[in-house]
Amino acid sequence: MKTLKTEIQTIQESFKKALESVYSLDELESIRVTYLGRKGTIANLMPHLAQLSLEDKRELGPLINELKMVTEKLFNEKKEDLFDKSLEEQEASFKDFDVTAYKPNQPEGSLHLYTQATQDIISIFSSMGYSVEDGPEVETEFYNFEALNIPGDHPARDMQDTFWTTLPNTLLRTHTSPVQIRTMQQQTPPLKVIVPGRVYRHEATDASHDFQFHQFEGMVIDKDISLSHMIATMKHFLETFFKKELKVRARPGYFPFVEPGIEIDMSCPFCKDGCSTCKKTKWIEMVGAGLIHPHVLTSGGIDTKIYTGFAFGFGLTRLIMIKYGISDIRLLHTAHVEFLKQF
Ligand code: PHE
Repeated sequence: MKTLKTEIQTIQESFKKALESVYSLDELESIRVTYLGRKGTIANLMPHLAQLSLEDKRELGPLINELKMVTEKLFNEKKEDLFDKSLEEQEASFKDFDVTAYKPNQPEGSLHLYTQATQDIISIFSSMGYSVEDGPEVETEFYNFEALNIPGDHPARDMQDTFWTTLPNTLLRTHTSPVQIRTMQQQTPPLKVIVPGRVYRHEATDASHDFQFHQFEGMVIDKDISLSHMIATMKHFLETFFKKELKVRARPGYFPFVEPGIEIDMSCPFCKDGCSTCKKTKWIEMVGAGLIHPHVLTSGGIDTKIYTGFAFGFGLTRLIMIKYGISDIRLLHTAHVEFLKQF
């Protein structure tokens, strides 16, 4: 019994010593197995205890329990200690990593012309108080045609060759104008919105046509809106976008969703006497526009006794091609890195 008592003390001391020379969680684990494991030093005391008299058991049993508790406590403290240290070490090594460090010869990307131009346009129109709206590219016949005053038998449907889907009355939108109706239905006037977006037409592809291109629509609805508000807005936009003083002129144009309808030309920003961009005419056709037809306002739930509005639709693709002198639309629509790198 004396020997078991000293044994308990010896184990306690040697455990403490062993812990002092432990520097990693792995080492700590092997010490745990040696002392506290199922077949470890402390567990091995049990058979000895069994051989003792009842009286000795009463004295030594609690001593062994205490030994177990003390070693476990020391073990857990050490474990936490080592864990904190290893976190500190990791943190210290992270601090050496400088994400802003300069790395030579890294290839640099740039924004696609569509993104650049869309950002420019949004910034110009938001400075005039417009907000940006979006709508689905897979549209219904109602929003793309009917609500825009183009019924099924209307010849204007032939102006925009359409990709119909296999679902009934569903198509790929041929213009951004359906978002006019969606906006009128969701918001109340005064409204000032632009809608940049992708549109689709069932057309053969050549240097100036693609079956998919981008437009941006504009719409203002308020009291007493007139064509002169729109013409001034177009002049301001074009001058800011082309960074040049320009003249604009309006000609009559036909779109079923506006009345009167006009087309607006701008003076050629690139020449004085005629060049290839303006086809020697000194004018460039820019945008279809007009005062919103009362049928269209009514489709959108707007009270035509109180409100009038104007709308315009730009070919964003065309605008970009003119501004950056791009002669083939296909260059703009392919991931041709050598071409795109120039902008
Ligand atoms: N949606 C017409 C088109 O795609 C353009 C347009 C929009 C004309 C708004 C007038 C008013 O051709």
